[in-house]
Amino acid sequence: MAALHRSLVLLCLTLLALNTVVSAHNITQMLSGFPEYSVFSDCLTKTKLDDEINSRQTITVLVLTNGVMSALTDKHPLSVIKNVLSLLVVLDYYDGQKLHQLSKGTTLSTTLYQATGKAPGNLGFVNITDSKGGKVVLGSAAPGSKLDSSYTKSVKQIPYNISVLEISQPIIAPGILSAPAPSASDANITAVLEKAGCKTFASLIASSGVIKTYESAADKGLTIFAPNDEAFKAPGVPDLSKLTNAELVSLLLYHSLASYSPKGTLKTTTAPLSTLATNGAGKYDIKVSTSGDDVTLHTGVGPSRLADTLLDSTPLAIFSVDSLLLPTELFGKSPSPAPAPEPVTSPSPAPVLAPAPISEAPSPLGASPPAPPSETPGGAPSDAPTAESANSKSANAAGHVGAPALLTALLTVSATVVSAIILS
Ligand SMILES: *[C@@H]1O[C@H](CO)[C@@H](O)[C@H](O)[C@H]1NC(C)=O
Ligand SMILES: *[C@@H]1O[C@H](CO)[C@@H](O)[C@H](O)[C@H]1NC(C)=O
Ligand SMILES: *[C@@H]1O[C@H](CO)[C@@H](O)[C@H](O)[C@H]1NC(C)=O
Ligand SMILES: *[C@@H]1O[C@H](CO)[C@@H](O)[C@H](O)[C@H]1NC(C)=O
Repeated sequence: MAALHRSLVLLCLTLLALNTVVSAHNITQMLSGFPEYSVFSDCLTKTKLDDEINSRQTITVLVLTNGVMSALTDKHPLSVIKNVLSLLVVLDYYDGQKLHQLSKGTTLSTTLYQATGKAPGNLGFVNITDSKGGKVVLGSAAPGSKLDSSYTKSVKQIPYNISVLEISQPIIAPGILSAPAPSASDANITAVLEKAGCKTFASLIASSGVIKTYESAADKGLTIFAPNDEAFKAPGVPDLSKLTNAELVSLLLYHSLASYSPKGTLKTTTAPLSTLATNGAGKYDIKVSTSGDDVTLHTGVGPSRLADTLLDSTPLAIFSVDSLLLPTELFGKSPSPAPAPEPVTSPSPAPVLAPAPISEAPSPLGASPPAPPSETPGGAPSDAPTAESANSKSANAAGHVGAPALLTALLTVSATVVSAIILS
């Protein structure tokens, strides 16, 4: 009984979670009325931290005035600025009042620098302390750090979602300013891929010459989605040796975007993304869906999960992905040995927005709730994300259809559990 009760509660929580809209705020817009923070705002845009901020909820952005920012930007490359600003994005909501109500007058708070996994130890935490004189001071949580920044004023809030506060000085974690700035042209793409278990992909881009295209694009903005070695051995993967050289090059170029798109940017993306293989409107593009912190890419043939960030150094981002990205332009119609997903027949790969299959499974009381059979091997896990992201952010028509359908499906499941409780 208790277990059933717990699963009911879980279901309700799931319902709430799925109903959560990902992005309701726009930090650039919030700061646009404050010219004194224009340098800060510009840097957020250049480093794409704006997307990261917009994709999160319950967040506090500690802003610096133009004078303080310029002193930083004059001396440091963008990759260092990105780290410094990441440490000013606190993953909790603090307004002026809450700063003065800290329990015991002091707290350590997680920042984006910690969350992006770049910070060793506790370097990604900030110490916020309400000092005796009523002044709130801040500093790195690393042992021995000075609390030498202070809260100067409240700038803007959207209560309990996002708060913008001005502080006097950047919070400098030990080593953050002297971290070597790996420039994109210095990054050895092959070495990054090999080290991360993407050897097959690395050797294909080398033998096909695609590496040259990547290298020359890397300085202007490049994102690479590298399938790991297991992805090439997965059942249903087409025999790449049957492709012509031109097709292989298209396939490999399809695994990249001609822009710097770190994870936060992918999470806030709603429009289809052009790839380096794109050769006409709507051709060779990729759609993105998000669930919490998980990002899934959809080609129209099948989903592929973003696995790890192998490199995120403005303007080059490299991710590993779980499956090969198979464009419909090459693999849509001629299902060679592919036993896997339904070959896409319609040119507009609408099925990427998954809500429809869910709504088609309305009333199977007692039947297994997961995965409508028509879906791709990703099955249930890939459904929820897509529906949720459709529900998120943009007022996208499919989202409006999708959310109620999803609710219906979940309510049906809850009803099943309730009747199970009554019957038992
Ligand atoms: C806060 O965020 C939630 C979820 O994104 C949204 O529904 C709500 O409208 C936001 N609150 C305000 C005041 O904008
Ligand atoms: C946020 O606001 C800025 C300035 O108003 C605008 O240029 C930008 O497109 C907005 N971003 C999103 C994701 O809506
Ligand atoms: C924050 O730093 C101050 C001064 O070093 C220290 O006394 C306090 O314990 C720290 N707060 C936390 C929560 O560790
Ligand atoms: C890049 O790394 C690969 C593999 O580790 C190595 O063979 C190659 O020489 C490196 N290239 C440069 C330019 O350092």
